[in-house]
Amino acid sequence: MNAVDHTLLSVENLRKTFSIRGGFFRKPLTLTALDDVTFTVKTGETLGIVGESGCGKSTLGRCILQLLKPDDGKVLWLGQDLVGLRAEAMRLWRQDLQVIFQDPLASLNPRMTVGDIIADPLRALKPDLSRAERRARVIRMMEAVGLLPEMINRYPHEFSGGQAQRIGIARALITEPKLIVCDEPVSALDVSIQAQILNLLADLKDEFGLTLVFISHDLGVVRHVSDRIMVLYLGRIVEMAPGDALYAAPKHPYTRALLTAVPIADPKRARERTIEGLVGEVPSPINPPSGCHFRTRCPYAIDDCAKARPPLEPAGDERVVACIRWREIDEKGLAAATRATTGAGDVPSPEAELRLEEVQKPGFTPEDPRPDLL
Ligand SMILES: Nc1ncnc2c1ncn2[C@@H]1O[C@H](COP(=O)(O)OP(=O)(O)O)[C@@H](O)[C@H]1O
Ligand code: SF4
Ligand SMILES: [Mg+2]
Repeated sequence: MNAVDHTLLSVENLRKTFSIRGGFFRKPLTLTALDDVTFTVKTGETLGIVGESGCGKSTLGRCILQLLKPDDGKVLWLGQDLVGLRAEAMRLWRQDLQVIFQDPLASLNPRMTVGDIIADPLRALKPDLSRAERRARVIRMMEAVGLLPEMINRYPHEFSGGQAQRIGIARALITEPKLIVCDEPVSALDVSIQAQILNLLADLKDEFGLTLVFISHDLGVVRHVSDRIMVLYLGRIVEMAPGDALYAAPKHPYTRALLTAVPIADPKRARERTIEGLVGEVPSPINPPSGCHFRTRCPYAIDDCAKARPPLEPAGDERVVACIRWREIDEKGLAAATRATTGAGDVPSPEAELRLEEVQKPGFTPEDPRPDLL
């Protein structure tokens, strides 16, 4: 999809942990959401990011946008490291980097009109624009995303989910960004509406020369839009490859398992299901398995998989894979064993599980995003 070989964003050795406090007398635990993540995004391409829920996709998106501060690593935007920039310096770049969230209605202020919602980023980022100029831009953007300009004074609750997401997209586009992080932008929508929004994003990408980082737990959706795809598992990249190559011949056992998942037509059931073809749940990021994090669910796991983190190795065709057995599996068509070996570190401690449940309760925010940058 007309990607030019020019690096726009370069993420280097990114690490993000959350400290989970558990009341007095309990030692804080560390949850590793991102562990040494390195990749680049080229101008004009769409990089898809997939993985099951809890694998770190949203955290990665937020670290790119500097809505969360990474513990370590760099986020180079056109060569400039955004990590650690003060709010004022970051504001200069903010208009270049925008975001579209999963739940369109929840992400729109119910007390603001559509016109004010879409214009909001302009007030902060382009304060010199006159009222009339702002309004003209808002109307142009409403038309671009398929909203009627006469809806400008309406409130979000008057819109369907699909229309609300169009408002979210207009708000993201209004500052003429270069890159948009789309975090599960269609996961909350009915299947019929999903296709409309995906097509709209593809059209807008061409029209405005956008670069997209497209996050989804759904490989079907990601396939539809992505030039390259990154597969994340427990905060680590396990495979990254051009979309066609990844689907035609997945190399990492996790990617293979994801691809065996059968599509489910009912969106509610599809959202609730865990990935088929995979044994069990994603282990706790507080106490992940040693060595290869995937080994407790991998049908090809051997004892060596527990010893060290598998390095990301080049595997041809711009592909990288983090599995010590990918060649063997690929070349010999190795048969999968029924179940992985298990060893120390497989089963999270009850304490870790309990804390994780607390963290995953809605509304739990031990670390606020950087409100100064929002
Ligand atoms: N603010 C936070 N505080 C503590 N843990 C968090 C926070 N945000 C995310 N996490 C944890 O980090 C891990 C990755 O989460 P997330 O990036 O939301 O994954 P995904 O988007 O792939 O579902 C999860 O285990 C999640 O519970
Ligand atoms: S390193 Fe071992 S456990 Fe990990 S994916 Fe490869 S075979 Fe499976
Ligand atoms: Mg998420």
